Amino acid sequence: MKKFRGVFIKNEHEIEVLRVANGMTATILDELVANVRPGVPTIYFEELTQKMCREMGVRPTFQGYYGYPYALCCSVNDTIIHGFPSKDIILKEGDIVSFDMGVEYQGFTGDSARTAFCGEVSDAARHLSDVTKKCLELGIAEAHAGNNLYAISAAVQRYAEAEGLHVIRDFVGHGVGASLHEKPEVPNFVPRGGMVNGIPGGIPLKSGMVIAIEPMLAIGTHEVEVMPDGWTTKIKDRSLSAHWEHSVVIRQGEAEILSLASNYKG
Ligand code: MF3
Ligand code: CO
Repeated sequence: MKKFRGVFIKNEHEIEVLRVANGMTATILDELVANVRPGVPTIYFEELTQKMCREMGVRPTFQGYYGYPYALCCSVNDTIIHGFPSKDIILKEGDIVSFDMGVEYQGFTGDSARTAFCGEVSDAARHLSDVTKKCLELGIAEAHAGNNLYAISAAVQRYAEAEGLHVIRDFVGHGVGASLHEKPEVPNFVPRGGMVNGIPGGIPLKSGMVIAIEPMLAIGTHEVEVMPDGWTTKIKDRSLSAHWEHSVVIRQGEAEILSLASNYKG
């Protein structure tokens, strides 16, 4: 595969495979969100994910990745990422739950995440998820050839902080393709030294790069804490958190969002 500055440039065939992998991923996420309601234990979403993967004939990418035990990350309220689905975590009215998953199809992987509301949620919770989703959209709007990578980071950070929210720094977006995590890292903040004469730096974006943009925001602080299970990552002050992620292809004009259910035609 061709590379630019260590980043794979995908050809149209590879992009088509990624379109299907991400279409399946989005189809599963849609079904998970449709099943969010009070009283459901989060292990139910793992079972649903496993069942849909079986029916689609694909493998859930996360399961076994660095030993991650499940197909799905299911992160409730103050858990920002890598929450284990559990029979003991039962959704209640007002919870917000982030689903993150990907499937492997013909050697390439999907990756997408979204936050869902359980019944009526607080204004603060709604604002948090809505701003995180908008950050993702603003990031995607900067994801085009001719721009530098940190233009995405700057757009996410600027809007999140203008809305009084905190951007998680210990985890970032990434290139995605045959592997779940490829170069480049896609931070949701401009790293130290990342501005060059007032302009966002980082590598120049090129057509055919595929990246997962994934803002992770919290209400109280950017600081996180990994639980003793080695995965479950909570906001240190136990405030609410949200996570939205799309896999996108860099193009000359607008980025193409791959993780849309319409890309999988069952
Ligand atoms: N979407 C997450 C990421 O991009 C999922 C990784 S969870 C893991 O990093 F279990 F696969 F590690
Ligand atoms: Co990701």
